[in-house]
Amino acid sequence: MSDKKPSGLEDVVVAQSSICFIDGKRGQLVYRGYDIDDLARNASFEEVAFLLWNGDLPNESQLNSLQHDLSAAMHFPRHLLELLRELPFDANPMRVLATSVAALGILDPDADSLAPESNHLKAIRLTAQLPLITTAWHRIRNGYELLEPNPQKSLAWNFLYLLNGSEPDEYAVETFDAALILHADHELNASTFSARVTAATLSDLHSAVCSAINTLKGPLHGGANEAVMKMLQDIGSLENVDHYMEGLRAGKQKVMGFGHRVYKAKDPRAVILEGMSEELGKRANDTKWFEMTRRVEELFQPTVADKGIYPNVDFYSASAYHVMGIPGDLFTAIFACSRVVGWTAHLFEQYANNRLFRPSSEYVGETGRKWKPVGQR
Ligand code: COA
Repeated sequence: MSDKKPSGLEDVVVAQSSICFIDGKRGQLVYRGYDIDDLARNASFEEVAFLLWNGDLPNESQLNSLQHDLSAAMHFPRHLLELLRELPFDANPMRVLATSVAALGILDPDADSLAPESNHLKAIRLTAQLPLITTAWHRIRNGYELLEPNPQKSLAWNFLYLLNGSEPDEYAVETFDAALILHADHELNASTFSARVTAATLSDLHSAVCSAINTLKGPLHGGANEAVMKMLQDIGSLENVDHYMEGLRAGKQKVMGFGHRVYKAKDPRAVILEGMSEELGKRANDTKWFEMTRRVEELFQPTVADKGIYPNVDFYSASAYHVMGIPGDLFTAIFACSRVVGWTAHLFEQYANNRLFRPSSEYVGETGRKWKPVGQR
C-alpha cells in the first residue's frame, strides 16, 4: 500500500451544497440543476446570478427588479475613487480589487451585518461594483477619463463600454456575457473555499470576498488565464508553437490552462470558450491567437492524456479576451467580476448553516527540546 499522505484536501467533502455540481469524469458542470451549456447559450449573466443566489431562474418581474438593483449599485463611493487615484499605476489589478473590496467594507454602513437580507444586498452591490472598479482602474492607470455606466444596459455591455470607451458590438457583448456565466461558479474551488473559511469564523461578507479575491489571484487558480496569454505572447507566432512546446517538454514544465483537480476530461467551459475564441478571431480578422492556442492543445494534450490532463477554463478564455481588446493583466479580475456571484451564493449557504472550519494536521516536527539561553545555541 502506498504511504503517500493525502494532501490538498483532494476528494475530501467539507460541505453540503445545492449550488453547483461537477462530474469530472464526464466533463459536466451544472448550476442549480441546469447544464452550463444550456445557460451559456440561452441565459444572461444577470439571470444566472439570480439563479445562483436564489435557487431558481427569475420570472420577468424578479429579473427587472434585479437589473434595477444592479444598475442602482453601479457607482463608486467618492473615497474609493480617491484611493484608486492614489495607487501606483503599475499595481496588479487583483491587488487593486482586493484593496477596493476592503475599502468598500469600511465604507458600507451595513458591512458587519450578517443578516440574510443585508448579505443579499451587499452581494448585489459587489457584483455591480467589481466591473466598475476593474474598468475604472484600467482608465485611471492609462490617464483616461472615467465614464458613466449606462443603467439600461447589462453588466457585460457596461464592462466593455467602460473599459474601451466605445459602444461594444453585439457579438462581443453576447460572448462576454457567456464568459461571465461560465466563470460564475465552480463548486468548492480554492477561492470559494477560502471565502467560506473566512465566513465560517462569522467574519463579514466583504472580508470573505477579499479572501476569495486574494486566493483567485494565484497562477494555479484564476491567475492561469493571464499566464496563458503570457505564454502565447512569448510564443509570438503560429510557426513558433512547435519549437516552443519542445522547449517546455524538455524542461518538464507545466502548461498553464491545462489540468484540473476535478476534471479528468476536457472542461466543458473550455469547449464553449474554444468556439467563442474561434468565432471572435474570425470576426476580428485576427485568428492568430486562437490558432496558436489550438496548436498548443494539439501538441501538448496527447503527452499528458495518461494523467487525465485536458484544457481547463483558462486555456481558451485568454485568446478570446485578447481579441476583444482586453489587456492580459485584467483577465483574472474579469474572473473575479463573475465569480463574485458564486462566492456570495456560497456565503449565503455558509452563513445559513455555519460551523467553523478547523481541520487538523499531522505533527511531524521535533519533540522534547529544551530552551537554552541565546548564547548557548
Ligand atoms: N501541465 C503539465 N503537467 C501537469 C499540469 C499541467 N498544466 N497539471 C498537472 N500536471 C501533472 C503534474 O505535474 C503531476 O504529474 P506527476 O504526477 O507526474 O508529478 C500530475 O499532473 C498531477 O498534478 P497536480 O499538480 O498534483 O494536480 P492538482 O490536482 O494538484 O493540480 C492544477 C491541479 C490545476 C493546480 C494543475 O493541473 C495545474 O497546475 N494546472 C496549471 C494551472 C492552471 O491552469 N490552473 C487553472 C485551473 S482551472
